[in-house]
Amino acid sequence: MSLTRSEIVQCFEEVVMNRRSVRGFKPDRIDPEVLTRIFELAQRAPSNCNTQPWQVHVVSGEPLEKLRQAMPANFIQGKVTIDYPYEPKYHGVYKDRQYDAADQMYSSMNIERSDKDARAEVFMRNFTFFGAQHVAFLFLPDDFGLREAIDVGMYAQNLMLTLTAFGMASCPQTSLSFHADMVREVLEIDLSSKLLFGISFGYENTEDPINNTRMGRGELNETTVFHR
Ligand SMILES: Cc1cc2nc3c(=O)[nH]c(=O)nc-3n(C[C@H](O)[C@H](O)[C@H](O)COP(=O)(O)O)c2cc1C
Repeated sequence: MSLTRSEIVQCFEEVVMNRRSVRGFKPDRIDPEVLTRIFELAQRAPSNCNTQPWQVHVVSGEPLEKLRQAMPANFIQGKVTIDYPYEPKYHGVYKDRQYDAADQMYSSMNIERSDKDARAEVFMRNFTFFGAQHVAFLFLPDDFGLREAIDVGMYAQNLMLTLTAFGMASCPQTSLSFHADMVREVLEIDLSSKLLFGISFGYENTEDPINNTRMGRGELNETTVFHR
């Protein structure tokens, strides 16, 4: 049975609209065959000259638990190691959107802007992967830069949309790149691979209030100009 074009569009719209960053997961693991299929589909992402520069490490089970155990303490002790500079100093409308996103997330959990301890506690959940049973760490060969990072971004969106289509959830996390050396050490990866970011994924815990957030978007004309 093949779908009509309008059914395909409807399914696609549903996948795009349903993908969102989920920050609370169930303890269930994904079937290994399904997991493989998901990553085969993600691999269909386009890349400059089809170079496919993404180096993807999908981590579950024991190595993931090792990281989950060690990352929070690593951060608290200030042992952060980052391969790519991180300067989240936004200005103008970008700053407004950043503040708005934080407000939306914390207010969905009834956390006040002034409650720094509660906000810090939520932030720290990044380092236990929000309870997810799987994380994909996305690396680049160390002599690559901005151009190849574009390809990895495309790969990441392909992966997250595929997960959504399979009924699963994900959260892309720059914060996981703060532990580049530790991730390399636990996964026995050498320094020729640089960590861009990670994506926690699995089954959404719909009971967790952190998942009540539905981030909006600006008007189309704020970002997109049609030259006709
Ligand atoms: C490259 C990238 C890095 C991100 N890093 C984090 C992160 O470290 N922690 C987090 O909770 N969310 C992170 N996010 C999720 C964004 O906050 C989220 O995509 C944005 O607010 C829009 O919400 P939505 O994904 O639910 O549509 C990241 C998103 C991207 C694309």
